[in-house]
Amino acid sequence: VLKGLQASPKYLQSKYFYDKKGDELFQEIMNCGEYYLTNCELEIFAEQTSSLADIIIQQHTDFDVVELGAGDAIKSIYLLRELVNKKAISTYFPVDISNHIIDLLNRKLPEQVPHLNIHGLNGEYLEMLRSAKKISDKIKLVLFLGSNIGNISLEDVPAFCRELRSQLSPGDMVLIGIDLKKNPAQILSAYNDSKGYTKQFNLNLLQRINTELDGDFDLSSFDHYATYDPQSGACKSYLVSLEEQQVHIGMNTEIFFRKDETIFMEISQKYTIEQSDEIAVQSGFIAVAHF
Ligand code: AVJ
Repeated sequence: VLKGLQASPKYLQSKYFYDKKGDELFQEIMNCGEYYLTNCELEIFAEQTSSLADIIIQQHTDFDVVELGAGDAIKSIYLLRELVNKKAISTYFPVDISNHIIDLLNRKLPEQVPHLNIHGLNGEYLEMLRSAKKISDKIKLVLFLGSNIGNISLEDVPAFCRELRSQLSPGDMVLIGIDLKKNPAQILSAYNDSKGYTKQFNLNLLQRINTELDGDFDLSSFDHYATYDPQSGACKSYLVSLEEQQVHIGMNTEIFFRKDETIFMEISQKYTIEQSDEIAVQSGFIAVAHF
């Protein structure tokens, strides 16, 4: 946090959004009419469950599922049920940066998907993938849904995918949910919802810094600003300081803000299908199917 706030231009990492309040605000965002991503992906999982499962089971009949950034797992549950029915899944390892989410999944999933072995892992994506592999040496199906990959910049995504590939073995599978480039107005309104949940979601990270790092951000002196560039496919969120101000973090750190200075909060990168295939191939995967 300090590294980002002392940088020029200032930034915070979006992975820190997800404390309990952040998880709740993201739920509100997913329930917004404007945030089309969740419903689109849910439709694929609900309506194409059996063809999804068939393609996977054609490759392997006994494997673990590791889900990076599982969240409420609402979409994956469709696939997990199908894989349980077909006796193809050994253990489900949901990975999430929010310990609140992992607690919830460990408690709720056994009711929602009977006969599923669940082993929640709280932490970073690739570190927890490594943990899952230490716990079980079965073939892995990695789920990386909800356009979570969008939080990685276009510049960093090849290295991330190569690193993911290097942790996997021949035969392992990845199912990835990528948000496609589309009408820029539709994308922008998804990240600038009319009820202001996205604004609260961003401001909540300042609140979290206040609570957990002894900060004194005045949330009312920051506004939220979202942009989408249809050429690069980069959707970016900022917080804007509405006045010149000083913020303290702990006893020893003072952060100075100019009026109108921004903090870069999040990228949600959009892709074409061709781009997504290219990244897959360049990082050592074979693109098997699109849904
Ligand atoms: C959870 C990272 C996929 O980037 O669309 C939603 C988070 N940020 N609204 C996204 C988010 C603002 C979301 N991901």
